[in-house]
Amino acid sequence: MIKVAVCGANGKMGQEVVKAVNSANDMELVAKIDIINGEFESIKEAKEAQVIDVLIDFTQPASIYENALFCLNNGIKIVIGTTGLTDEQISNLKKLSQENSVSCLIAPNFSTGAVLMMKFAQMASKYFDNAEIIELHHNQKKDAPSGTAIKTAQLMSESNEDFTKGNCIETETIAGSRGGTSYNNIHIHSIRMPGYIASQEVLFGASGQIMSIRHDSMNRECYMAGVLLATRYVAENNEFIYGLDNIMN
Ligand SMILES: NC(=O)c1ccc[n+]([C@@H]2O[C@H](COP(=O)([O-])OP(=O)(O)OC[C@H]3O[C@@H](n4cnc5c(N)ncnc54)[C@H](O)[C@@H]3O)[C@@H](O)[C@H]2O)c1
Repeated sequence: MIKVAVCGANGKMGQEVVKAVNSANDMELVAKIDIINGEFESIKEAKEAQVIDVLIDFTQPASIYENALFCLNNGIKIVIGTTGLTDEQISNLKKLSQENSVSCLIAPNFSTGAVLMMKFAQMASKYFDNAEIIELHHNQKKDAPSGTAIKTAQLMSESNEDFTKGNCIETETIAGSRGGTSYNNIHIHSIRMPGYIASQEVLFGASGQIMSIRHDSMNRECYMAGVLLATRYVAENNEFIYGLDNIMN
């Protein structure tokens, strides 16, 4: 049995993860950690009371780096769903995970459909010189753009060096109208409103054609197959992994 702790257990994602872990035959939920009404208030407190093989973190951008450092320095394998880590923090975590031989898997998106959407966008980037990303989330999401949008842009930028080829020189009458400019000039537009869970559309344009690749998460259950897959993987291995695609065969 894999002994699993869930950090952020009372949050929207955390509650789904608790249900998913409880229904997995090969996992035992040993700790529900949350700063608000948690069985334990911190990972340290939970570690003192329980043996933890894998900790799954769905907390908030302000906490995730410290949580991950604590786990990797204390031999607790970690699956990170929380978004908002900077490139520098990710590279520090990679170094620590490898030095200490403690698994760390970070996935900006655990939905298998969203992972495929990113792969298809990467494939299309070879054939289109113009592309922009629109990501749409509920209005309680703290960070923008989404981790998925950033990861998509990174993957796309491996296949094309400039996604604004042929665009004229632009001026913004209202600042921010063209969204944020990310890797290789991919513009990212973040929409926040109630009604959405998480959606993303990648638009590709070329003379005489537009192609759009879209993924919509209808509820948070869509992430659970990926979370359990990641948990099983890190329980068996001692590696640093960024992106669920790396363990999806
Ligand atoms: N990777 C993915 O597939 C994916 C999918 C959805 C959401 N997310 C991300 O997951 C995170 C959580 O999302 P949510 O919608 O569940 O948020 P939420 O606000 O509903 O839940 C967060 C929970 O974490 C708790 N918390 C905050 N800091 C803590 C700490 N230091 N220790 C313990 N508990 C702490 C809060 O009390 C709350 O219960 C966000 O960063 C979100 O962007 C990732």
